[in-house]
Amino acid sequence: MFPRGVTVWHFILIPPVVMGGVIILFRWISRSLLDPATISENGLYAVARIVTISLVMSLVIAWLAFRHRREYEAQIAAQNEDLVATRDFLSNVIETSGEVIITLDSDGHITSWNRTAQQIYGWTQEEMLGETCDRLFAAPDDHGNKFRMHLDTLQAGGMVRHEETTHRRRDGSIITVHVTLSPLFDVSGRYVGATSLIHDVTKLNELQSRLVEQERMAALGQMAAAVAHEIKNPLAGIRGGCEILLKGANEVDPRTELGEEMLYQVDRLSRSVHDLLVFATPKTIKPVPAQIHLIVDRVLKMIAEDPKNKGIQVDRRYDSELGHVQVDPELMEQVFFNVLLNSCQAMDLNGAITITTGKAGNHVSVSVRDTGAGIPDDVIARIFEPFFTTRAKGTGLGLAIVNKIIHDHGGTIRAVPPADGGSGTEVVIQLPAEA
Ligand SMILES: Nc1ncnc2c1ncn2[C@@H]1O[C@H](COP(=O)(O)OP(=O)(O)OP(=O)(O)O)[C@@H](O)[C@H]1O
Ligand SMILES: [Mg+2]
Repeated sequence: MFPRGVTVWHFILIPPVVMGGVIILFRWISRSLLDPATISENGLYAVARIVTISLVMSLVIAWLAFRHRREYEAQIAAQNEDLVATRDFLSNVIETSGEVIITLDSDGHITSWNRTAQQIYGWTQEEMLGETCDRLFAAPDDHGNKFRMHLDTLQAGGMVRHEETTHRRRDGSIITVHVTLSPLFDVSGRYVGATSLIHDVTKLNELQSRLVEQERMAALGQMAAAVAHEIKNPLAGIRGGCEILLKGANEVDPRTELGEEMLYQVDRLSRSVHDLLVFATPKTIKPVPAQIHLIVDRVLKMIAEDPKNKGIQVDRRYDSELGHVQVDPELMEQVFFNVLLNSCQAMDLNGAITITTGKAGNHVSVSVRDTGAGIPDDVIARIFEPFFTTRAKGTGLGLAIVNKIIHDHGGTIRAVPPADGGSGTEVVIQLPAEA
């Protein structure tokens, strides 16, 4: 309110001093001042009155100024309070938003990291403030370059809308997100950073692909049922005919070999139709508390009955603490039968299979490792696809069925080269442990 350095005291003291000074100067110059005899009493009273009036006026002015100053200060304080309340409200909106909201400075360093960001990514505000976004990128090189291009766009006043990308969380898991970046400018129009709005769409994408998969499977199921219906009966007829023809033929008869080959091919076709039906027809899982070791043992016994597998050594490294797991025993038999059969088919007579079980966190894992030929990189990516096979006599449905059963149980399956660098393949199945 007052110019810098001026206070109320200036108003109180300056007017009487100045006025007094002026009067004394005036008196001193005038003749009456030169002649003390001419100084009348009236003159002294007049001086005293003027001094008193100017003092009162100073006090009034000072009081008015003081009041005005108080009002002005109160007004500023109220405005400050409003500003603080607005700022708190806005930070509260950002902090409690259900979306991830991150703000960045002009160099791309994080300046705010809200609660949802902490929940989704796992890093706290203290850990992220001042950091760059590189830590969030699933593929740091590619995403980092792209992000720097985005910063240029923002600096030029542009926006990045709903870009789908993948981010990495603190625990290493990958999420799919939609990112929207908007530039921030200060009152003078200078670029000061950006706001990043991030929406986690991982679950949505999973749901969508599951829906598409379900629709695909429903269509495939209908087709498989129709095909199976058309093929099954004729196949049974052909099989019966072959058996009748073979009955009368002796071993040297060339028709015997032909008939046996026909029988073999008919059985193969029947198996393919059966596999197709199993794969395509939805089957309800009936989970019961079961012991995985007993299921694996039953399957191993079945496999050992085939003379082709007699030379294969089996090493069971079972975890005695494994306990029960909620699974459908019949479907699980099918899983281990397919996986173990694949291992046998990939090995020569002297191969070895190692089965290791264990419990980690809330999962039970079963690993089947063989010493077979291994799976080349270009093949490994496709082994769970329906009808993908590298075997002349395979249908390519074995692992597709296994994959479906495991996922229906809430588990995961993967095939990897053995961790010790040896030859062969390791198939690792993880199932939710019983609570
Ligand atoms: N243990 C393994 N070692 C090497 N290759 C394997 C192994 N398991 C699977 N594969 C590869 O994965 C492919 C797909 O396996 P999958 O069980 O689905 O079909 P398949 O065995 O070929 O036919 P089938 O339907 O009769 O099981 C196989 O053809 C093979 O190339
Ligand atoms: Mg197979």
